[in-house]
Amino acid sequence: MQSIKPRERFEGEFTLPGDKSVTHRAVMLNSGANGEATITNALMGEDCVSTCRCMRALGADIQTDGTTLHVKGTPRFRRGTELNCGNSGTTIRLLTGFAAGKGIDAKLYGDESLSSRPMKRVAEPLSLLGADIRTTDGHAPVFVYPKALQGAKVELKIASAQVKSAVLLAGISADGETTVSEPVKSRDHTERMLAAMGADIRVNGNAVTVQRSELKAVDVCVPSDISSAAYFMALGALKGKTLCKNVGINPTRTGILTAFDRLGIKYGLLNRRVSGGEETADILVEKTDMRGICLTAEDIPSMIDELPLVALLCAFADGESRITGAKELRVKESDRIKTTAELINNLGGDCQELEDGFVVRGKTKLVGGDIDSYLDHRIAMTAAVGLLASQKGGNIKAPECCAISFPDFFDKLGLKLY
Ligand code: S3P
Repeated sequence: MQSIKPRERFEGEFTLPGDKSVTHRAVMLNSGANGEATITNALMGEDCVSTCRCMRALGADIQTDGTTLHVKGTPRFRRGTELNCGNSGTTIRLLTGFAAGKGIDAKLYGDESLSSRPMKRVAEPLSLLGADIRTTDGHAPVFVYPKALQGAKVELKIASAQVKSAVLLAGISADGETTVSEPVKSRDHTERMLAAMGADIRVNGNAVTVQRSELKAVDVCVPSDISSAAYFMALGALKGKTLCKNVGINPTRTGILTAFDRLGIKYGLLNRRVSGGEETADILVEKTDMRGICLTAEDIPSMIDELPLVALLCAFADGESRITGAKELRVKESDRIKTTAELINNLGGDCQELEDGFVVRGKTKLVGGDIDSYLDHRIAMTAAVGLLASQKGGNIKAPECCAISFPDFFDKLGLKLY
């Protein structure tokens, strides 16, 4: 249980941990590439540790030195391994595509939350390339059997970077050409990294085409994660002024800034630069009065992980907000439509669940209260922001799950985790 007292003001300069999505890909792709790579500012959160554990189990040599990783791929992957993906959806879904491409037979499994998340969405598109993948009633454990792959055209019905990446990782080992398209463009870190590693890859709007490719190892300097910075940006908007340094602002990830624009939040992107194929900036946010907003399906993929926080900001805004087209939230680490609505209502706000989103009636002030994280890192961190900005504070049940993506989150807030 973490007890949190409200703060009158929240101000400071913050350096946030490395990007989770980029770290997963840097480790996995370099493990399947020729040569050696150094990854700096890697996220050492539990999800990325799961990816390192799985790649080591397959035979990659990964040495850790703080947040620097030295990765040496292996030409001969170990067969018949059991790969523990922990809580990580990105690990299990990308690795299913990777294993299918490399012709590795493996069992991929994870914790209770991961075992309840849908896996057919990755097995079915991969089967269009000829992969033999069996799920357990649509869930993990997932079993991958070796099979030669043929390129295919894959049209995804939902925008998902995890599924798109799984198809691309299989596609670079298939005969012929593979094209994967999605209704709205999701994060494109896999595409950028594959291009940097010398893959034959073309992007045309929401469609990505790859041919069989050998990858060359590439050093990656991981930007700070905008999904982690978002909590500190929100605290700036609610309670003072914050500067988050060296944050990745890849346009497929900056939906939170679109939400800020609509809410009327004042922010600035300072010191913009490009590092390792990804743009970064220092993000300065200042306290602003907010107004209700409307977000629809096209807005969702670029802020998918920030939606609990965006809904919370709406609860502090003036007027009604409507967020729709976000049904994917139901199959994250928790049912985030349910857990977010409960969080806001327990703080004294007014959030009504929709099948695919929320209606939030903004109250500009929230009293505070007790919140269950349901072991979902994003819910725990959103709760901390809500309580710091509330009138009376309260408690968070199971706060330690923030270690999935942000191990020193409470330290950075100046709070001791009990
Ligand atoms: C991720 C993609 C998103 C996101 C997740 C990380 C990735 O999931 O929610 O936290 O790194 O590819 P979906 O692909 O299921 O939308």
